[in-house]
Amino acid sequence: MILVTGATGNVGREVAGALAEAGVPVRAVSRASGADLNDPASMRPALDGVRAVFLLPGYRDMPGLAAEFVDAGVERVVLLSGQSAVATDTGNAVSQYMIASETAVRESGLAWTFLRPAAFMSNTLRWLPQLRAGDVVRDAFGDVPIASIDPADIAAVAALALLEPGHEGRAYSLTGPQALLPAARVRILGRALGRDLRFEALSDEDAWAEMSATTPVEYVKAFFSFYRDHTIDETTVHPTVEQLTGRPPRTFDQWVTTHASDLRERLS
Ligand SMILES: NC(=O)c1ccc[n+]([C@@H]2O[C@H](COP(=O)([O-])OP(=O)(O)OC[C@H]3O[C@@H](n4cnc5c(N)ncnc54)[C@H](OP(=O)(O)O)[C@@H]3O)[C@@H](O)[C@H]2O)c1
Repeated sequence: MILVTGATGNVGREVAGALAEAGVPVRAVSRASGADLNDPASMRPALDGVRAVFLLPGYRDMPGLAAEFVDAGVERVVLLSGQSAVATDTGNAVSQYMIASETAVRESGLAWTFLRPAAFMSNTLRWLPQLRAGDVVRDAFGDVPIASIDPADIAAVAALALLEPGHEGRAYSLTGPQALLPAARVRILGRALGRDLRFEALSDEDAWAEMSATTPVEYVKAFFSFYRDHTIDETTVHPTVEQLTGRPPRTFDQWVTTHASDLRERLS
């Protein structure tokens, strides 16, 4: 049995789907199933008979979670981490929770694989409120091209690492096939939705103000460190998805096409 945490989310849903497609017994959990990652003891019922876990990062007591896995006889963990774990300045709040998550899993004695994807293509969903309001998408860091990745490709690699030997002790940098500016992503999205969408870059001042309204300041600082001080590199395309899966990573066009009807529904 393989346990997939965050199974209602962008990545977890795809991981559960990839494993089910491979014919493997999967237990897909999130808080609705009573499995709260902030409360390690609440995971116990979900761990019965589990051999491997797909784990999200950043919860309150990652060493406690890993200890529950060990006690339950889990052998292997595939941890969703991020490029922020290897930023050139890891003093920021986002890098710190990724690194703390990796450290907890590494020190648990479980066999581990870390997935360090660039930003997700599904972050496009954050534009939905603006897309409902009109044809202009405003966002921060308009001059930073990102080789964002389809969660389905993260899931394809996760499934391999959960099912095959040979991935223990490996940390995989994962990207999509091409670095795109937000303006290019908005154009592709507009084409698929049949709308004349336009991107407008927020000034750094406006970006700081907008982000601070909804996000704790230490996380806003982290994003400015990543994309203004360029302490993270999400522009370089890595060959890892193709090397591991034998096929190229999916393009942003493909992500949009796959999700177009869902997007239309959510916009109507
Ligand atoms: N977005 C990016 O560009 C990016 C890049 C690198 C790494 N990451 C990491 O990837 C993670 C997953 O991303 P995603 O887009 O798949 O997230 P998502 O769509 O927001 O899904 C989060 C999942 O976690 C579950 N969850 C939330 N709090 C929980 C809790 N306390 N206990 C148990 N389950 C809980 C949610 O389900 P319920 O709400 O139903 O419990 C949901 O299934 C992020 O949290 C981030 O740490 C993100």
